[in-house]
Amino acid sequence: MTLSIIAAVAANGVIGKDGKIPFYLPKDLERFKCITKSSPVVMGHRTFNTFAGLLPDRINIVMTKDQEFSAKGVLVVHSLAEMYETIALLKADEVFIIGGAKLYHDTIGRAERIYLTSVIQEYEGDTVFPAINQEEWDVLLVRYFNDHYFTILERKDTVHKIDLDMKHCSGEELQLGFDMIPKSVRYDPRSAEIIGAYDKYVPHGRR
Ligand SMILES: NC(=O)c1ccc[n+]([C@@H]2O[C@H](COP(=O)([O-])OP(=O)(O)OC[C@H]3O[C@@H](n4cnc5c(N)ncnc54)[C@H](OP(=O)(O)O)[C@@H]3O)[C@@H](O)[C@H]2O)c1
Repeated sequence: MTLSIIAAVAANGVIGKDGKIPFYLPKDLERFKCITKSSPVVMGHRTFNTFAGLLPDRINIVMTKDQEFSAKGVLVVHSLAEMYETIALLKADEVFIIGGAKLYHDTIGRAERIYLTSVIQEYEGDTVFPAINQEEWDVLLVRYFNDHYFTILERKDTVHKIDLDMKHCSGEELQLGFDMIPKSVRYDPRSAEIIGAYDKYVPHGRR
């Protein structure tokens, strides 16, 4: 089972403001749906409260210390240890940590993959993504869109078994954009911003 983080992060590291995501990227939301569909998703109680209900077609796991909390169709866990035990029992290929900041901070040390949307603009906010230690991650893919980069990072020394063309994502919007073949990519650990030189820009699908 691969433990993956999926997040959208502003250029200054911000991921949330007043309990909401301060930017709206329709293509990224579509990509989020497509990548996480059919897989278990784990979220903090605050993030769960931002949704109108369950994320459909996925096992929804919510973390809270509140022993009284329950919601229809939700698997509730009360500690990190209980969360790791629960996801191991699910026997899924991939489990996604979908936020918020507390969950990202607590799990980034164990995650093997990060699907990272780096928003080009800075936003004001009150919650930030944790620092990414570039020494620990391989950059598998960088795809440029008008207002964001979509990147996939995998922990060094893991066996890469990911479909980088994301053939399971069928929407045309997801397939647009430009692949950037990383040459000497590094991450600004504070903002998760990609800084680097690229060999070439390849229109997706024409490699
Ligand atoms: N940009 C993105 O990709 C993205 C994605 C998701 C969320 N967000 C944003 O992130 C913000 C929310 O982040 P957040 O850090 O404030 O909240 P959060 O991580 O969503 O939820 C925190 C809550 O989860 C529970 N929790 C967390 N760790 C726990 C643990 N180890 N054991 C038991 N319960 C635990 C606690 O709930 P109780 O208080 O009930 O005990 C805690 O108060 C929002 O603004 C949201 O919109 C952004």
